[in-house]
Amino acid sequence: MKNLIAQGAESKLFLDSHKIIKQRFKKTYRINEIDDKLRKFRAKREAKILEKLKAINFSSPILVKSDEKQNLEIEFIDGKILRDVLEKSSHVKLGREIGEKVAVLHNNGIIHGDLTTSNMIFGKNLISKKDEIFFIDFGLSFFSEKIEDKAVDLHLLKEALESKHSEIWEECYNAALESYGRLAFNSKEILKRLKTVESRGRYKNKISANL
Ligand SMILES: Nc1ncnc2c1ncn2[C@@H]1O[C@H](COP(=O)(O)OP(=O)(O)O)[C@@H](O)[C@H]1O
Ligand SMILES: [Mg+2]
Repeated sequence: MKNLIAQGAESKLFLDSHKIIKQRFKKTYRINEIDDKLRKFRAKREAKILEKLKAINFSSPILVKSDEKQNLEIEFIDGKILRDVLEKSSHVKLGREIGEKVAVLHNNGIIHGDLTTSNMIFGKNLISKKDEIFFIDFGLSFFSEKIEDKAVDLHLLKEALESKHSEIWEECYNAALESYGRLAFNSKEILKRLKTVESRGRYKNKISANL
């Protein structure tokens, strides 16, 4: 039995016995052909990144299956989206964990592209039995080693925290930057570039156009 559990900006998510089926839907405002291509492209991209993440043992869902169209079957992560629990939890500790995990992604040449707290699930790791943050939604992700792309990724995290968690965002973000600074390769340069990026303003469109 497939149950609709979430409707994101891009897709419908169904739960089917511990699997999530992610179906990207048509956007009627896009020309049909372009829309088809874009959906396939993003699904393929997400599948590819999930495979790489499995290989490096990153805390993200496992890809169960991808088909020729735009559907992905991915492991269901049992937990709550971070957006709903961040304020009620230790936001500094969680911020530190976010920074650590973004550093691992970047050290492996992966830019998430949409680092919001709706794209993070706080759930149980079935092996370690500990609660931790899982990253999801790699539809806007791409491979890059560029300092600029990494700095923009961090900037998007800041914007996401600021807009959805106005009370605590700064402490959480600073904790993320602190652990990122310790763990990410070239972090000095990336954090320096981040300052330039901040002074240039909003970057969401630029990173999306990068697809
Ligand atoms: N693997 C998963 N396990 C549990 N819930 C998930 C999983 N993937 C997605 N979800 C839920 O579905 C929502 C939308 O999924 P997401 O991949 O972010 O789609 P979109 O690209 O449409 O934003 C998430 O915010 C989360 O609540
Ligand atoms: Mg999402």
